[in-house]
Amino acid sequence: MTTALVTGASAGLGAEFARQLAAAGHDVVLVARDRERLSALAAELQREHGVRTEVLPADLVTDDGLAAVRERLEQAENPVTVLVNNAGYGILTDFVDTPLADEQRLLHLLVEVPLALSHTAIPALAARGGGHIVNVASVAGFIPRGTYGAAKAWLISFSRWANVKYRPRGVVVTAVCPGLVRTEFHRRMELDTRNIPGVAWLEAPRVVREGLAAAFAGRAVVVPSKRYRALVSAGRLLPDRLMAAAGRVGR
Ligand SMILES: NC(=O)c1ccc[n+]([C@@H]2O[C@H](COP(=O)([O-])OP(=O)(O)OC[C@H]3O[C@@H](n4cnc5c(N)ncnc54)[C@H](OP(=O)(O)O)[C@@H]3O)[C@@H](O)[C@H]2O)c1
Repeated sequence: MTTALVTGASAGLGAEFARQLAAAGHDVVLVARDRERLSALAAELQREHGVRTEVLPADLVTDDGLAAVRERLEQAENPVTVLVNNAGYGILTDFVDTPLADEQRLLHLLVEVPLALSHTAIPALAARGGGHIVNVASVAGFIPRGTYGAAKAWLISFSRWANVKYRPRGVVVTAVCPGLVRTEFHRRMELDTRNIPGVAWLEAPRVVREGLAAAFAGRAVVVPSKRYRALVSAGRLLPDRLMAAAGRVGR
């Protein structure tokens, strides 16, 4: 039996990763702050797929929360074989108007948390004969776009390198880079999405399906959907200065 640990599993992409991994027969460990939502999802997955579920409520930006998840990754009993680093959010206010502490908390969750969990998971997975780390990044990581995009660029670069470095030890590291996905992400950052055209939106099941397929195929980076792959490819042809200028609009 294999066990997948998903961070940010109480909503959006994380809940969908947990659903698809459970449907494929993986036991799941669900991590987020909202214990009630995690318990409801755990009951659903147990009922629907007959897998073993664990609820691990943790605020990942706290030392205790992060330590609890690292401990679970090291646990030899029911060992974790798939880690999904997914928990995240965005900030809407302008960089200089955002309190420094808020920016630092965001950087902590988007970069330092996956760094710490990967640091724990890679040797643990390698010692058990291998496994997968799925890092949920963003197309924003390819386009200079504030501190959020910079953090996601770190995750993409890290995944690309770690995949090459640790594959010989059986550990596959994959950055999944979605465009806009209908989740709670935009509502939580109080972004008015009414003017965003329908064609820009992706549905979580598709993003997760393509993400997991790429991860289990051993790939380092995947951009779900043809339309966003075309956008990222087009961006690569433009001069860096022009791409950075695109970041002047919005956050
Ligand atoms: N939606 C998009 O358009 C989009 C596009 C590209 C990339 N992404 C990335 O996809 C990932 C998932 O986002 P989503 O769209 O699914 O957003 P979402 O629906 O708002 O879900 C975010 C999840 O992260 C958890 N979380 C937030 N802060 C946490 C903390 N301090 N400790 C533990 N868990 C925490 C939340 O749970 P609790 O509140 O219960 O803690 C929730 O389960 C993020 O990394 C995001 O950057 C999203």
